[in-house]
Order: sequence, then structure tokens, then C-alpha cells
Amino acid sequence: MSCGAGDSSCEIPRRRGAFVMLGVMTAIFIFLSVFSFTRSRNQTVPSQITYGAYTADQGKHIFQAYNCMGCHTLVGNGAYLGPDLTEEYRLAGPAWLAAFLPSAGGWPTEAAVRTQLVNPGMQAEAGVDTIEAYLKKYPGAADRIARRGGGTTSMPNLPFTQEEIGKLLAYLKYTSAMNTEGWPAKILVKGDLNDRLRMAHGAGFTPTGGQVAPAAAVPTEAAATPEDPAVHGERLARDYGCIACHASDKQKLVGPGWGGLYGSQVKLSDGTSVTADDAYITESIVKPNAQIVDGYTPGVMPDYSTLLKEDEVKAIVSYIASLRGQEKQ
Ligand code: HEC
Ligand code: HEC
Repeated sequence: MSCGAGDSSCEIPRRRGAFVMLGVMTAIFIFLSVFSFTRSRNQTVPSQITYGAYTADQGKHIFQAYNCMGCHTLVGNGAYLGPDLTEEYRLAGPAWLAAFLPSAGGWPTEAAVRTQLVNPGMQAEAGVDTIEAYLKKYPGAADRIARRGGGTTSMPNLPFTQEEIGKLLAYLKYTSAMNTEGWPAKILVKGDLNDRLRMAHGAGFTPTGGQVAPAAAVPTEAAATPEDPAVHGERLARDYGCIACHASDKQKLVGPGWGGLYGSQVKLSDGTSVTADDAYITESIVKPNAQIVDGYTPGVMPDYSTLLKEDEVKAIVSYIASLRGQEKQ
């Protein structure tokens, strides 16, 4: 049987066919619409990821408030002044990041990362409790310490609170856990901004601060001269991350400023006063919770008793003593 044009006996089956097709298409459309609202792959979402008491959602707000994307990229989106941060948490880990973010313009040393690991909350997040295990678990931290530890950074010194750092860590933990479908494909250029600048400007280029360039031949006599303890103390205060919480003048950061502290009368939280002599300052460093300065909470300052050697504590005390005249910057 053939259906010629205008043959009315063929009209009914044709219509029926068209309706059946329409029905099938509608069913497929509804099925796919519903399917697109279900999670098709096992994707991580920000509200599921927490760091301590903070969620990645909260961290995203901080990330936006400081306009990190104005200088950094996430999964390739953003600006290219600073490095991509997508995998930063996985590579460098929470202790390195917690040491870097408030580092007042410096790249963390091993000591600064070790200091972070004294905190039990940090040990829980990092999944390790020694610096050796940490550097093994987070090779990016070992690499950063070896390449840049103690050097200056071209990242601006942003005034983060401890809470904001916790939230940022939650967000970066999320970006590291995100399924990026294999992105980035392969790292072709190893190194950081300064390496890239050196590549662009030639090997003779000196990066910001000049601290990263290999030290010019130091005369051996100079190396043999014993260093002024106050200068040594200043370097230790930077390396151990003290300056993230203490200013060299009277300014209050997380802890009290050190300017004019030495020899002054310090009011303590129990209502008594004490003279800030060598013994008091030493105790403040190795037993930070023994005496609490009025207006501060105990447990904020890390315990340095196992991190600093006796002569290092002495050097820091000399440095603090040298800030006697630094009431104002
Ligand atoms: C004005 C630009 C700028 C802004 C804003 C900025 N950064 Fe950076 N950041 C940089 C630069 C440049 C570097 C590379 C520093 C260096 O190599 O010394 C850097 C480095 C870093 C690193 C270390 C990267 C590495 O190589 O391991 C982290 C982590 C980081 N930034 C996080 C942040 C976060 C989080 C924010 C927002 C809260 C932020 N940055 C905002 C410019 C910026
Ligand atoms: C996470 C922040 C933090 C870090 C890091 C930190 N401190 Fe503190 N520090 C505090 C706080 C908060 C106080 C006030 C509470 C108290 O008395 O313990 C304080 C108190 C002190 C005091 C007594 C100050 C005064 O006015 O009487 C000294 C001295 C001191 N710290 C030295 C250091 C040294 C040295 C380091 C590094 C080796 C360091 N702190 C690292 C937060 C910190």
C-alpha cells in the first residue's frame, strides 16, 4: 500500500506516529531535565568542606572580600600576577599556608611551619604531628621552604585575623578537593614569580628584596665574626613567625607590641603587675600561659619551649630589649 499526497486513508497513522514521537521526546526531555538536577558525578561542594570550625562557603566570602582573584587564578580563572591557588592546599598543606598568610611579607621557614604544628587542631587538619612527616606528606611545603624560606615575598601584607585565615584555609581545602577533571594537564614551567621574572629578564635579574638571589661570596672573616645577639634575635622572631602577632613598636596585633616593653611594668590579667625583665620575657616565650597580659586570652600564643634552644630564646630577649626606645615607629 502506498500513501500518495492527499490520500486521506494515510492521514490517521501518520498523525498517530507523530504523537507517539512527540510523547517519546517529551518523556526524554522530562527525564533529562530531572537528571540534570541530580548530582551526576561525585562532586565536592563548598558547604561540605570544613576546616576547624569554618566552612569553605565562609572562606569564599573572605577570598572575594580581599580580591585574591585580582592577582591569583583558581582553575585558570582570575589574574596572573600571583600563582594559581587551586592545588595550593594539597601541595603545601595547612601549616605552611597558615604560616605564609600572616607572614608580614616573608616566606615561611621550616621553623615557622614547625610552630604551626604545635597546635593540636593543626595536627588534626594536617594529619601529622611532626615537621618531618609534614614535609613528606606535603612536598610542596618542603619545596617552598628550600627555594624561598626566609626570603621576602611580593604578595602584599594583608591584615588577616586568625578567623579569616581559618576560613581561607577551608576555601583552599575545598579548591584542592574539587574535581577539576585532570586540570592542570601538566606543569611545563617549574618555579614561582621570581623564576618567571628571571626567565623574562635574564639570569642576572634580582627578585624583590634581593633575598632570593644566591648570596655573593661572603668574606670568610665576616662569617667568623659572632653575630650581634639582637640581630640574631630579630631574625629568629621573623623565622619563627612571632612578628605575625607582635609588632616592633607599641602597636597591638594579635599580641602586645614589643616596643618599649623591656623594663616596663606589665599589667597581668590576675590584677598584679610585673617588671618586664629577662626572666619575665623568657617565661613569656617558653611558658606563654604562665602569666597572661591584661586584656589577652590564654592559649593564643604557641608554646615555644620545645622549638627554641636556650641561646635562641636569649637572642630574642636581647632583640626585644633593643626595642626599648621604639614606643613609636
Ligand atoms: C595584589 C596582588 C595579590 C593579592 C590581592 C593577593 N595575592 Fe597572593 N600572591 C601575590 C603574589 C605576587 C604572589 C607570589 C609571591 C612571591 O612569589 O613572592 C602571591 C603568593 C601567594 C601564595 C603562595 C603561592 C605559592 O607559590 O606557594 C598564596 C597561598 C597566596 N598568595 C594566597 C593569597 C590569598 C588567599 C589572597 C586573598 C586573601 C591573596 N593571595 C591575595 C599577589 C597577591
Ligand atoms: C599566634 C600569635 C602569637 C605568636 C605567633 C607569638 N605570640 Fe607572643 N603573645 C601572643 C599573645 C596573644 C600574647 C598575650 C597573652 C600572653 O601573655 O600570653 C603574647 C605575649 C607575649 C609576650 C609578653 C608580652 C608582654 O607585653 O608582656 C612576649 C615577650 C611574647 N609573646 C613573645 C613572643 C615570641 C618571642 C614569639 C615567637 C617566638 C611569639 N611571642 C609568638 C601571641 C603570639
